[in-house]
Amino acid sequence: MTTPHSLLLVGCGKMGSALLERWKHSQAMQRFDIIDPSHIQKNEPNIFWHKNSETLAANYAPDVIILAVKPQQLESILPAYKLRFAGSTPLYISIAAGKTLGFYSHHLGEHVHVVRAMPNTPALVGQGITVLCAAPTLPASAKKIAGDLLKAVGSVEWLEDELLMDAVTSISGCGPAYVFLFIEGLIKAGMAAGLDEHLAKSLALQTVSGSLELAKHSPKSMEQLRIDVASPGGATEAALGVFMQENRLHQVIKEAVLAAKKRSKELS
Ligand SMILES: NC(=O)c1ccc[n+]([C@@H]2O[C@H](COP(=O)([O-])OP(=O)(O)OC[C@H]3O[C@@H](n4cnc5c(N)ncnc54)[C@H](OP(=O)(O)O)[C@@H]3O)[C@@H](O)[C@H]2O)c1
Repeated sequence: MTTPHSLLLVGCGKMGSALLERWKHSQAMQRFDIIDPSHIQKNEPNIFWHKNSETLAANYAPDVIILAVKPQQLESILPAYKLRFAGSTPLYISIAAGKTLGFYSHHLGEHVHVVRAMPNTPALVGQGITVLCAAPTLPASAKKIAGDLLKAVGSVEWLEDELLMDAVTSISGCGPAYVFLFIEGLIKAGMAAGLDEHLAKSLALQTVSGSLELAKHSPKSMEQLRIDVASPGGATEAALGVFMQENRLHQVIKEAVLAAKKRSKELS
C-alpha cells in the first residue's frame, strides 16, 4: 500500500474529531468509518458512523486504523480489532498517551504495523505538531503513510527513543492547555485592571499571537526578546518582578510539565 484510501477512526472525541475535520478534505481518502458510541449521525459523503465495530461490513478492511480512545479503554477494545482484522494488514496509528509500542504488540500481535503518535489540538486549524514513533522494523512505506497523514494537520517529528514520548506528551500533547490557561489568566487580569471582557480578550489573543510570530522570526533568544520589552524601572519590569520572584513562574511550569510526564508514564 502506498496511498491509503480508507480509514477507520476508533473514538471521535476532542482529538479524533480534530484530526477528522482536516482529513475529510483529503482527496486521496475515499472512505472514512468512525466508531464512537456517543456519535451523532451526520450526513457527509464518504463518512460512515458506527456505534461499535459490529456494524462494519463483513468484508471491510481499512488501510489505516486510528486509535483515538482514552488510553484506559484500549486494553478492553483491542482484542476485538485484532480478531476482526486478522486477515488484513492495516496500519494502526494510536494517539493514546502513555501506551507503548510493546503494549500494542502484546495486544494486536508482534507483526502488526503500529505507529505511536502524539498530536495536539491545534491540529484542528492545521497548526498542530505530532511526534511519531515506531519500531525500527516498520516498513518505510508505512512510516510515509503515517507521516503524510499527520502532516495534513501540522508539523511532524519522528522520535527514535520511545522513552522520550512521555516528555513529548508533557510539552506538545498537553501544551495547548497550558497556553490557554495563560491566556485565560491574562484576560481575567485585564478585566481586573478595568478593561471590558471583549477588549481584554482581543488584547490578550493578539499579544500572544504577535509575540509568537516575533519569537519565530527573530534571531534573538526568548530571554533577549523579554529583556527588550522591559525598560529599567518600567511597568514590564514591575510585572516580571512578580513572575520571576524566586524563579517562580519557571518553577511552576517545570513542576506542571513533570507532573504531566509522570502521569503519561503511569498510563502505560
Ligand atoms: N485531547 C487532547 O488534546 C489530546 C492530545 C493528544 C493525544 N490525545 C489522546 O487522544 C485520545 C482521545 O483523547 P480525547 O481528548 O479526544 O478524548 P475524548 O474526547 O474522551 O474522546 C474519546 C472518544 O472515544 C469514545 N469511545 C469510548 N469508548 C469507545 C469505544 N469502545 N470505541 C470507540 N470509541 C469509544 C468516547 O465516547 P464517550 O464519550 O461516550 O466515552 C469519546 O467520544 C486519548 O488517548 C488521549 O491520550 C488527546
